[in-house]
Amino acid sequence: MRALRFFAALALQLTACSSQYKYGPEQSWDLDSISELKSKEFWFHDAQRTLYNKLSTPPNQYRAKNVIFFLGDGMSVPTVTAGRIFDGQLRGVVGERNRLEFEKFNYVGLSKTYCVNKQVADSACTASAYLSGIKANYLTIGVTADVELNDCRGSRLPQNRLSSIAAWALKGSKSAGLVTTTRVTHASPAGVYAHTSNRDFESDYDVTKLGQNPGNCPDIAQQLIDGDVGKRLRVVMGGGTIKFLPNTTNDVFGNKGQRLDNRNLIEEWQQTKPGNARVVFSRTDLLNNDAQNTDFLLGLFNASHLAYHMDDSIDTPTLPEMTAAAINVLSRDPNGYFLFVEGGRIDHAHHETKAKKALDETVQFSDAVRKARQLTNPWDTLIVVSADHGHTVTISGYPDVNNSIVGLNSELSNVDQLPYTSISYANGPAYERFYKSTDGVVERVDLRNLDFSKPDAIYPHGVPMTEETHGGGDVAVYAHVVEYLLQGPWSHLFTGVYEQSTLPHLMGFASCLGPGITYCDLQPKARYSP
Ligand SMILES: *[C@@H]1O[C@H](CO)[C@@H](O)[C@H](O)[C@H]1NC(C)=O
Ligand SMILES: *[C@@H]1O[C@H](CO)[C@@H](O)[C@H](O)[C@H]1NC(C)=O
Ligand SMILES: *[C@@H]1O[C@H](CO)[C@@H](O)[C@H](O)[C@H]1NC(C)=O
Ligand SMILES: [Zn+2]
Repeated sequence: MRALRFFAALALQLTACSSQYKYGPEQSWDLDSISELKSKEFWFHDAQRTLYNKLSTPPNQYRAKNVIFFLGDGMSVPTVTAGRIFDGQLRGVVGERNRLEFEKFNYVGLSKTYCVNKQVADSACTASAYLSGIKANYLTIGVTADVELNDCRGSRLPQNRLSSIAAWALKGSKSAGLVTTTRVTHASPAGVYAHTSNRDFESDYDVTKLGQNPGNCPDIAQQLIDGDVGKRLRVVMGGGTIKFLPNTTNDVFGNKGQRLDNRNLIEEWQQTKPGNARVVFSRTDLLNNDAQNTDFLLGLFNASHLAYHMDDSIDTPTLPEMTAAAINVLSRDPNGYFLFVEGGRIDHAHHETKAKKALDETVQFSDAVRKARQLTNPWDTLIVVSADHGHTVTISGYPDVNNSIVGLNSELSNVDQLPYTSISYANGPAYERFYKSTDGVVERVDLRNLDFSKPDAIYPHGVPMTEETHGGGDVAVYAHVVEYLLQGPWSHLFTGVYEQSTLPHLMGFASCLGPGITYCDLQPKARYSP
């Protein structure tokens, strides 16, 4: 409390003398001027403004009523850097000076993403880490490292099943929900509710195809409908209708279902809910839905993953729209909620080395964070933003400031005198596009003859692979928030370099959820209540 008073008093003093700060408390700067970069005063005031914001933001030690965890799939640190430049350049401001929404957050840490048996992780084992707080094996979800890939029996043993922060929230009488741009049965969202020895067991057809018996190995879609956590989720939004429909039924988009067990899990979901359960299949239906009369909301907007935002499919909701709809339903619970929001296609675009799409999905993700901030109160809502793993994307060479981040570098290679793109990958598909062999000598093609203006432009890479791989670098964690005197409860805990599996422990502490020590375990005199 003393610390809080000290900071409050300091903030008041700073307010009194803030007129001398050109870039005052949270004043937005003039981002369109490159000439300012040459000014000594600019850098001085920029640093002073950052310091001012830090000094005027005391740690918030209240209990978090709501926790929203944003996961940019594959959103490596260079992806964030390139994303902010891309966003700024599209908006006509100096991209290098731009900030994505979560870059305004005060507290940043680094998360170590490796899994129990892989230096470079996938989205499955990392989901166990950042949602259940325990690291596990590559390709498995919601089970301990005692479960190897395809070990169906092991995945059903109670002692091997992990419980996610969504389960903790439900146990703590809060609501829980998930939003993603991938299939809702894909690896990251599955970490909220599923326990499986193979991330690809999305439907019973998939289980069979992979040589296992669905009777011993419940598929992920079924766990979303029948599972202890899955059946109690109030909000589920993303894609993947075919994983829920029998192979005799078409979805509303005209695609045949995949299930062999003849269950229509979408109908079952709606019929078994204790309240007003809405199912929507289009953006229009989502935007017209009355959240105040919705107890449960299932939105499935594609047979598979949602279309990329840049492909502008007419009736696909955006990530910010889905995030808003989810918060509107979940915030009806007076006890609060846990919400998982995934920007899932940053990763897919990187795998295809379609850098522009990856950056556009990153900007959408940032806009979803902004939407969440607008709809919540920073005093009682902890917002945490991170990534599951990195990618091999880099920004390289010495491009001039304001050079297009998705274009050719302003420099040429000093070896072959040919241009190169500022963005490239360590490995990826379509090797023959970028290299040619002349008289047995491999040479780079002249990139001036390739078109990098289209959303689907494929970026160059070093090692040929069928698809670009993940990267093993640490990913950043960003915790709420930089607004004057307002930030998410306990967001200061998220600083430092730590194992990815620490994240749910920190979120659980702030919101009094889960099996570890929480804020509510502190001595009453050490607690602070609003
Ligand atoms: C649908 O699933 C049933 C049950 O496994 C199977 O016998 C049938 O061949 C499948 N139909 C199609 C069209 O795949
Ligand atoms: C589903 O996604 C595919 C692939 O991105 C896209 O072509 C299709 O238009 C989408 N369907 C709907 C209904 O949005
Ligand atoms: C920055 O780049 C954009 C796009 O190429 C250009 O329109 C603008 O004039 C540049 N700004 C400066 C100050 O060079
Ligand atoms: Zn991933």
